[in-house]
Amino acid sequence: MASSFILKGTLIYAEDSSTLKVIPDGYLVCENGISKGVYETLPERFSGLKIRDYGDRLIIPGLVDLHVHAPQYAFRGLGMDLELLDWLKQHAFPEEMRYADLSYAKEAYRMFSEDLKKSTTSRACIFATSHREATELLMDLMEESGLCTYVGKSSMDRNCPDELREDTENGLREVSVWLDHVQGKYTHTYPILTPRFVPACSDPMLEGLGKIRHQYQLPVQSHLSENPNEVAMVKKLCPWSKFYGDVYDRFGLFGGEEKAIMAHCVWSGPEEIDRIRERGVFVAHCPESNMNLLSGIAPIRAYLDAGIRVGLGSDVAGGSSISLFRAVMQAVQVSKLYWRLEDSDLKPLTLTEAFWMATKGGGAFFGKVGSFEEGYELDALVLDDREITYLGKRSAAERLEQLIYLSQEPDITAKYVAGRQLF
Ligand code: GUN
Ligand code: FE
Repeated sequence: MASSFILKGTLIYAEDSSTLKVIPDGYLVCENGISKGVYETLPERFSGLKIRDYGDRLIIPGLVDLHVHAPQYAFRGLGMDLELLDWLKQHAFPEEMRYADLSYAKEAYRMFSEDLKKSTTSRACIFATSHREATELLMDLMEESGLCTYVGKSSMDRNCPDELREDTENGLREVSVWLDHVQGKYTHTYPILTPRFVPACSDPMLEGLGKIRHQYQLPVQSHLSENPNEVAMVKKLCPWSKFYGDVYDRFGLFGGEEKAIMAHCVWSGPEEIDRIRERGVFVAHCPESNMNLLSGIAPIRAYLDAGIRVGLGSDVAGGSSISLFRAVMQAVQVSKLYWRLEDSDLKPLTLTEAFWMATKGGGAFFGKVGSFEEGYELDALVLDDREITYLGKRSAAERLEQLIYLSQEPDITAKYVAGRQLF
């Protein structure tokens, strides 16, 4: 139950991509799960609410993972010397076949949901496998975790092993059955349409998903322009398309009326970038995965300059860790390599920009999420940074920066999602 209370501590949040707000000894007021603002001195009108005093602990918004594959969690960190399409064949697809077995799915998804609950992530957009029953099981576990998530049964009817390949008609029927089972079943777990990527989805499959999207008014998540070999494959499979994203767009799966997240966008050309902006598509930037799977570096500075909505994704298991602190650090690091090696007009990202992407930037996919400003849903992490030794005095912003760089799994004293305390 979301409740009303006040958190006291060193409050830090990114109000926009260049402004880090710090309120030492601040009060964060929550009423019915919604922030009523942050205060240096508590206004009289809130004096009836209980204060949870965390001393000088850092309190930041919960982080948002815009792209993660739950069924890949069990083999994270393996096959990291392969390129995307080989890694899919040798690791991701064989592992995902195992989710036909519900007892395996239950054990593996429990590991994932328990670890995600303990992590800095408060919200996530999650790919499941093409198995409907295992996906429903994952949704039950996510609901139980208290996190807010979108979960998608993935759709695939070509270029994958027989065990995962769906017959197009049957695959579309399974999506409808899945939606009929889960829509309205949960309070903080929502379905999202999940065509895996164009190489694994025929035109009729995408067309059918576009109709379902329209009928059920659902958001969409997929992969876009991740790796040069994948982009070349799409050109061959859909010679009629102007560019990769044009394929999703043709079938009504590329933003517009309903939200969409496209993961990666490493190789998007000018026309694709324009379309992403026009349709309000969210780019999920997955810096570690883009290194591991030899995809490259996404020009995130150019996307921010163009006014495109950007958040961060762990992309486990293309990324080896669900830690979004790690993704924040890596987003900064790869942007520096891009500037040095590729284009010195695209300034490296600042830590504040990367932190904003992990909070308010990606949080926008969920609504008013990722900030402590009044009216935002209250997701908060109370962090204990006493394990980091230092000499002298540090500012709150420096403490946060050191935590991000030094503690990829920080000690979390308390975690709140939409006003509910998870621990
Ligand atoms: N493209 C299609 N499927 C996948 C996947 O599982 N991981 C990544 N990184 N890219 C993909
Ligand atoms: Fe992915």
